[in-house]
Amino acid sequence: MTEEDLVDLVQAEQEKPAWTFAQFAEELHHPHGWQLIAFTREPYQFGGYICCRSVAGEAEILKIAVTPPFRGQGVGSLLLQAAITRMVEEKTTRCYLEVRDSNIIAKGLYEKFGFRQIGHRKGYYCSPREDAIVYKLGLARR
Ligand SMILES: CC(C)(COP(=O)(O)OP(=O)(O)OC[C@H]1O[C@@H](n2cnc3c(N)ncnc32)[C@H](O)[C@@H]1OP(=O)(O)O)[C@@H](O)C(=O)NCCC(=O)NCCS
Repeated sequence: MTEEDLVDLVQAEQEKPAWTFAQFAEELHHPHGWQLIAFTREPYQFGGYICCRSVAGEAEILKIAVTPPFRGQGVGSLLLQAAITRMVEEKTTRCYLEVRDSNIIAKGLYEKFGFRQIGHRKGYYCSPREDAIVYKLGLARR
């Protein structure tokens, strides 16, 4: 991901509250941050992104989103698989993320890849207020 991608990325951002251009730009330069983006072929279009951080053998997925027209076609799975592959290559042993309790689609995606629920943060999200489910994926044996 580069700064040129940020306009597409902010348009694809769906989370509430949404990250701003400045927040994504800051993440791009975070010392432990890394990001991947997906493009479709024919037509060549921005399809989605995943933002992660890795440090000391531990990774965190901060955000993943697929642009609405391309949802349900495997783009999210491709992005998550590519991120996990990179984590394994970097000898990351565990990966964490948080998701809104009501986000059934994202929970299905994470569970498909072996993430397990390890925690519940009451009232963690705002606008609207909602609990977060904390997921962990163990990577040490991969
Ligand atoms: C969550 C998101 C990234 C999934 O991306 P996607 O490209 O649509 O997902 P995929 O097509 O790869 O599907 C992966 C899994 O998600 C689940 N899923 C996808 N679409 C679904 C639907 N309409 N209903 C229920 N589950 C669904 C399924 O478990 C699916 O696995 P399967 O293909 O084996 O059935 C996408 O829906 C999105 O951008 N949502 C808005 C942003 C968001 O909520 N991000 C997560 C914040 S933590």
